Amino acid sequence: MTNLRPKFTWPAPNASAEDVLRWGIGEFGEGLAICTSFQATGTVVLDMAACMTAGNVKVFSLDTGRLHAETYELIDKIRGRYGIAVELVAPDSAELTSMLTMHGPNLMYNSVSKRKLCCEIRKVRSLKRKLASLDAWVTGLRRNQSNARERIEKVAIDEEHGGIVKLAPLADWSAEQVFDYIARNDVPQHGLYARGYPSIGCAPCTRAIEPGEHPRAGRWWWEENGDGECGMHFSPRGDVRRDFDVLLDEVLPLRRPYLVK
Ligand code: ADX
Ligand code: SF4
Repeated sequence: MTNLRPKFTWPAPNASAEDVLRWGIGEFGEGLAICTSFQATGTVVLDMAACMTAGNVKVFSLDTGRLHAETYELIDKIRGRYGIAVELVAPDSAELTSMLTMHGPNLMYNSVSKRKLCCEIRKVRSLKRKLASLDAWVTGLRRNQSNARERIEKVAIDEEHGGIVKLAPLADWSAEQVFDYIARNDVPQHGLYARGYPSIGCAPCTRAIEPGEHPRAGRWWWEENGDGECGMHFSPRGDVRRDFDVLLDEVLPLRRPYLVK
């Protein structure tokens, strides 16, 4: 583990997913929430936490406004199965209106920086606002999902979000372990898995994959020089960052108040 702070007794680096989650729930209680997009990993973490707490755990999701119908169906199933009131965090309506008015609803297809702008307004900024009220958040990130994720820690200090604690209890799990847990525990699943979508984000930005393609190949599939990330976990690369910053300043003029007439 990196960035250890003396205030906590940290779980061992090889602690099991259950032990990491139990530690987080015990250490942070009401200050901890599970952040899930209702993909397989998120539902496993949610199932484990619901069993440990008899459903007494906070769960939130970033409702970008562009999620698949099947995602909303699964949210209803999860609410029914676990009795958990899933909090759906919406983007800021003024920010969204500004972006859509300037660039239209399908800006994501125009350039990587405009796609990042959409992710920023619909996901990253909503996440920042939500995390400001928490001491710890739990993700479903796994190391073998992509090269960028191969160093994910099970427990880390999240400097991007005010130094709160970020947990990834399934960091060292394989996809097989995830689906094995789901089958053994009859965890409700997203309807798009059966239709060839191994990784699921927003509807305009996710497609099914062909046999032999990388599991994340259907995410932002049209981008030739994208990084395959939305910005919740990794900041945009330097070359994209400059264009992206200009776009964001135009959409959010209050970021540079001296420019507002
Ligand atoms: S993404 O960067 O490509 O969108 P991915 O879909 O792999 O991320 O999900 C990784 C983790 O990010 C999930 O386990 C979850 O914790 C979080 N996440 C991604 N999208 C959302 C969302 N819409 N709402 C809540 N959490 C999300
Ligand atoms: Fe926008 Fe697509 Fe990002 Fe969703 S995944 S926030 S629709 S660019």
